[in-house]
Amino acid sequence: MVANAKGGVGKTTVTTNLITHLSEQHSVGLIDLDPQHSASYWLQMRDEIKPTVTNYSPKSNEGANHTRSWMKHKVGREVRYLVCDTPAGLQSPDLDRLLVDADILLIPVAPSQIDIHATAGFVQQLLLNPQYRAKPVRLGVIMNRVKRNTLSFQKLTRFLSSLKIPVITALRDTQNYLKAVEEGRGINEMTKRYDSDIADWQRILAWINKAERQQAVAMERKQARETLAQGSEQLLSKNIPPAEAVKD
Ligand SMILES: Nc1ncnc2c1ncn2[C@@H]1O[C@H](COP(=O)(O)OP(=O)(O)O)[C@@H](O)[C@H]1O
Ligand SMILES: [Mg+2]
Repeated sequence: MVANAKGGVGKTTVTTNLITHLSEQHSVGLIDLDPQHSASYWLQMRDEIKPTVTNYSPKSNEGANHTRSWMKHKVGREVRYLVCDTPAGLQSPDLDRLLVDADILLIPVAPSQIDIHATAGFVQQLLLNPQYRAKPVRLGVIMNRVKRNTLSFQKLTRFLSSLKIPVITALRDTQNYLKAVEEGRGINEMTKRYDSDIADWQRILAWINKAERQQAVAMERKQARETLAQGSEQLLSKNIPPAEAVKD
């Protein structure tokens, strides 16, 4: 899931490029929860050149509310990744419902003072969210539209390190993203190769890969703990005589 309550920070740009990168090797679907449907519009354009990604977005009258039940029924097992774009202003209870299903949350952050302030509020809300605390998703920040060696970039870096949230990478401020989206493509699908931008996306893919492995290990441990707890309960109930019996 790609989210930040602030608009214009790059959620849709991250969504579309994530899709084109993941779909190089995997079966991918889009869930577009933004009523403006920008990602769906992009996907329609893309379908003319590469119809490999399925749009699983709910109809506008279904909303985020229905995403869960509907996802279970409609998304085929072959789909390895569902990338979910979210609207500006996302907050509880919609945010809570999405957190139930999300495995990974990517937060794009732009480096203006206003963006930093709004993102700080969003991250704070997230860290205090009971659903997030019950089942934390893997959080990673993508610094977007970055011009290095600027004061705003330094401020953003300081802010993020104060939150101890991993920064995956920083995407350059470049017209390449605009050109790509206008063509229904990702930055990796342009005729000209933009190696330094593609390298940023390789870092994002590697981070996702690692987050998935960590998640799998955490799940295995949780299952092992549960099995152990169940097993020892059964063992106790079967083999250990009740206290009175011992006394006799
Ligand atoms: N790294 C970038 N470099 C240049 N322009 C960008 C970059 N990221 C996003 N943009 C542009 O900024 C605008 C807002 O981005 P968008 O992805 O639509 O944000 P959001 O979905 O959060 O509202 C769009 O016009 C987009 O093309
Ligand atoms: Mg958007």
